[in-house]
Amino acid sequence: MRRSLVIGAVGQIGCDLTPALRARLGAENVVAAGRKTPPTPELEAGGPFVFVDATDRAALAEVIEAHDIGTIYHLAALMSADGERNPDLAWQVNMESLKNVLDLAVARGMDQVFWPSSIAVFGPTTPAEMTPQRTVLEPTTIYGASKLAGEHLCHYYHLRHGLDVRSLRYPGLITYKTYSGGGTTDYAVEIFIEAIRADRYRCFVTPETRLPMMYMDDAVRATLDLMTADADRISVRTSYNITALSFTAAELAAEVARHRPGFTCDFAPDFRQAIADSWPDSIDDSTANADWGWTPAFDLPALAETMLAGLANRD
Ligand code: SER
Repeated sequence: MRRSLVIGAVGQIGCDLTPALRARLGAENVVAAGRKTPPTPELEAGGPFVFVDATDRAALAEVIEAHDIGTIYHLAALMSADGERNPDLAWQVNMESLKNVLDLAVARGMDQVFWPSSIAVFGPTTPAEMTPQRTVLEPTTIYGASKLAGEHLCHYYHLRHGLDVRSLRYPGLITYKTYSGGGTTDYAVEIFIEAIRADRYRCFVTPETRLPMMYMDDAVRATLDLMTADADRISVRTSYNITALSFTAAELAAEVARHRPGFTCDFAPDFRQAIADSWPDSIDDSTANADWGWTPAFDLPALAETMLAGLANRD
């Protein structure tokens, strides 16, 4: 069996997805890759780890060759808030690395590629409630523009080269295992970290801000289910809508306070408010459900309980 490579293994998704892949495929069969950040102890102890910059095609090709890679999970990216701080870097990192991955996958006849897209492909002209799978796509961030271009690149490589590339439009992802920052949905992670640390949080979006969200275990399961589904079940080669929850920042704060009665949250919106406002309130993921059986498991109470317990045990 050829091995799997997880690029961006030290990032938000990678810290959870890499151990899940290793449990499923065997530790030696999953090579974790980071650009600069050292691996977490769990990642380092769990199997092979390499440093590589995915925008460097030759270096990436060497890793692929040396480890006999047949599947790539390409997770490395700058997210929405970091992207607005440095649009040139966001475009370079997000697009050049994807192009390298797709070209190398074709050249080596790889089995599969996974690449994450995001609710950031939507914009203010998209229907905000139960956003359909196929709809208006006019993103207003460089991150969203790069994800949208990436979706079309993946679709093109599937059509042109028959590459089995699959993708999900993740909503805001919430986990206690790592905090990488740089996104707009970060408040839904920070609120738990600050609740445990200080019992108060200053939220950077308004209380009414509602966004689609998902606990990381659901996101990992969605990724594994998508990747193991029969190819003839995959009708979307741009990227699938998936979601689990939609709550406002006020509802999230109230849920945290239910677990920690002393917790207080105030609200001081910054530039990320405009990004949040440009994204949908809720997502229609019925195509993912019909094609490969997607259903979420974590509701808000389960998510809050898991986050608070996980962070309390860690500290
Ligand atoms: N979580 C991402 C962000 O906030 C959205 O994909 O940028």
